[in-house]
Amino acid sequence: MPCNASSADRLMIDAARLSQSIQDFGRIGALPNGGVCRLALTDTEKAGRDELVRRMQGLGLTVHIDTIGNIFGTRAGQDANAGTIMIGSHIDTVSTGGLYDGTLGVLAGLEVIAALNDAHLETRRAITVAAFTNEEGARFQPDMLGSLVFVGGMPLQDALDTLAADGTRLGTELKRIGYAGSDDGPRNIVAYFELHIEQGPVLEAETVQIGVVSGVQGISWHEITVHGRSAHAGTTPMALRSDAGLAASLIVQRAYEMTQAIGSDQLMTTGTMRLTPDLVNVVAEKAVFTVDLRNPSGAALKQADVSLLQIAEDVAAETGTRVTCRPLARFDPIIFDQRLVESVEKTAQSLGYSTRHLHSGAGHDAQMIARIAPAAMIFVPSAGGISHNIREFTSPDDLARGTTVLAQLVSGQAGLMKE
Ligand code: GLV
Ligand code: MN
Ligand code: MN
Repeated sequence: MPCNASSADRLMIDAARLSQSIQDFGRIGALPNGGVCRLALTDTEKAGRDELVRRMQGLGLTVHIDTIGNIFGTRAGQDANAGTIMIGSHIDTVSTGGLYDGTLGVLAGLEVIAALNDAHLETRRAITVAAFTNEEGARFQPDMLGSLVFVGGMPLQDALDTLAADGTRLGTELKRIGYAGSDDGPRNIVAYFELHIEQGPVLEAETVQIGVVSGVQGISWHEITVHGRSAHAGTTPMALRSDAGLAASLIVQRAYEMTQAIGSDQLMTTGTMRLTPDLVNVVAEKAVFTVDLRNPSGAALKQADVSLLQIAEDVAAETGTRVTCRPLARFDPIIFDQRLVESVEKTAQSLGYSTRHLHSGAGHDAQMIARIAPAAMIFVPSAGGISHNIREFTSPDDLARGTTVLAQLVSGQAGLMKE
C-alpha cells in the first residue's frame, strides 16, 4: 500500500554524507588551486565514471550504460509496469569547473537512494539515477549531447562521429575509455527531476533558498572561420592586407553591439579564438572563434542568429577576407511541465523553504528529457553567482535543502510503500 509522505515519515537525507560525497568526488580531476577538470571522455572523466558506477553498485543499483555512454543506475520498484522516476544530471565539467555543476544532481540522486536504503523503504515505481554524456559541450559540441541522443534528438552515428577541436572523434574516445555500452536505458520515465546549482546570482541576492525553474532559454552556438592571407607585419601596408585577426575582432565587436541593440535578454559570448599561425609578427591567415548566443525568446534568438551571419559576411567584404560559419548547437527555449513545476514549489514551501520562480540561463539535460517525459528542475544558490569557475560554491545547508526537496518529490512520485 502506498503510504503518505507526511513530515513524520518524511524521507530523511544525510546532509553530512552528501557534502562529503561531493567533496570526495571533487578529488577526481582536482586542479591545483581548487575546482576540477573532467572534460567529457578523458581519462579523468573515466575515473569519475568508474567511481560513480562503483557507488551505484554499492547502493544496490542495477547499472546500464547506453550506446552514447549515458550511465543509468536503477533501484527496482515493486510494480515493474509502473515506470521509473529519473533523477539526472552530468559529471563532466568544463576545464576550469567547480565541484557542483552537474555533479550535485547526480550525487544528490545517490543520496536519495541511500536514504531509501537506510529507511528500508521500497517504492512502487523504480528510481533511476542518470549521468548523461558530454553535457558541458566544452570538448565536443553540441552540449547536452548524451541526453539529446537518449531522447532521439540526434542520430547516434552523428554523435559518435562528432570531432573535438583537436580532431579527436567522440565515438573513438567513448570506446577507448570503455563506456560504449549496448543497453537502451529506461524508457518509461514517469517524471524527471534535476537538482542543480543556479550558476547565477539571483537566489543569493534575494536570499531565496530554492529556485523553481520554469524553463531554459534558447541556445545557439556558431563556429566562425575567417580565411585571410598571412603576411609580414612590418612590410605589408594596412590597405593591402587580408587580416583574419582583424576581421574576427570586428565580427565580435559588431555582434556585441547587435546583442546590446536586441536588449538585456540577449546574451553573446566569444569564449574561444584561435589565430593561425599565431605569431607576433605575422598577419593571421586564419581565425577560428565561437559565438554563444542565448535568449529566452525563440524569435529574438533567431533574429540574433540571422544578424550574426550577416555581420560576418559584411565584415568579410570590408576586410578582403572570406568567412565560413558552422552551427555547433541550436536549441529552442523550453518550458518545463507545469504540474511538476508546481509540485517543486509546493514541496519546497511545505518544507518551510523560501522559493522563487526563475528561468535557467544555462543549458541542462532536463531540457532534453522534457521532450519525452514531464521534467522539472530545482535550483539552489550559487555563492556570488559564480559558475564554470574553480571558485564555484554552494553551502552545505543549501545542498541539503535542495536534496531534501528532491527526496520528497522523488519519493512522492515513486510512491513509498509500507513494509
Ligand atoms: C552548459 O553548461 C551551458 O549552458 O553552457
Ligand atoms: Mn550543469
Ligand atoms: Mn556547466
